Amino acid sequence: MSLTDFGFQKVDPKEKTKRVRGVFESVARNYDIMNDLMSLGIHRLWKQDMVKQLPLQPKMKILDVAGGTGDISFLMQEKYRHLDLEITICDLTPSMLEVGRDRAVNKGLLHGIDWVCGNAEQLPIPENSVDLYTIAFGLRNVTHIEVALKEAHRVLKPGGVFACLEFSNVKSAFFSKVYEFYSFSLLPWLGEKVADDRESYQYLVESIRRFPAQEKLALMLKEAGMQTTSWQNLMNGISCLHIAKK
Ligand SMILES: C[S@@+](CC[C@H](N)C(=O)[O-])C[C@H]1O[C@@H](n2cnc3c(N)ncnc32)[C@H](O)[C@@H]1O
Repeated sequence: MSLTDFGFQKVDPKEKTKRVRGVFESVARNYDIMNDLMSLGIHRLWKQDMVKQLPLQPKMKILDVAGGTGDISFLMQEKYRHLDLEITICDLTPSMLEVGRDRAVNKGLLHGIDWVCGNAEQLPIPENSVDLYTIAFGLRNVTHIEVALKEAHRVLKPGGVFACLEFSNVKSAFFSKVYEFYSFSLLPWLGEKVADDRESYQYLVESIRRFPAQEKLALMLKEAGMQTTSWQNLMNGISCLHIAKK
């Protein structure tokens, strides 16, 4: 049997999806505050950057995969309310969706957003039905990335756009060393102190290291059938935004 990565551990692929769901069930209630704390708020700038670059048009049908507690969808709805976007947030973990729905109620953002529980590898969405597919900090958690990319291609309309924001490969050696120390020493410690959950944060850091580099992900998008792909490093490659077209 071929095993797959769960952070730095090797596990049965069927086991990985269950474990990933377990991690996000465990972090859901603290997810938003921990994101701000761990990234010193920088994740918000990256997400704003992503949303600014999306080719949003009136009445677009948007699928926000691994949408979690809703950051990307809420940014789109808040900034582009006049476009009357139709957004579906799809996520594997019910607790993340619940937290997201509560946030939408508090922000008065229920109009134009639906929630569905589902796996990026087998989306409960008809083919050729989506104008824009977004996935932010979700793809590295998926068991078979190439299957998720084929699913993205399946659900997109011809000419539809795929946008992925994800941690990536830092390009400067010096910056990489500082980032390595920060990720492997400080982040699991913060997870333990603030959320009483060192293990989940250790997984999150390890999963970043196992994710394909910028060039490789662009190649995988081509292999999944995308016509054009481009990417843009954010903060020296700590994160990267890939945009592709079906
Ligand atoms: C780091 S969070 C990102 C959430 C949100 N997109 C954001 O940027 O804040 C990763 C999300 O991916 C979801 N996820 C993990 N594996 C998934 C899969 N196979 N299919 C769909 N969602 C998945 C998790 O439940 C979690 O909500």
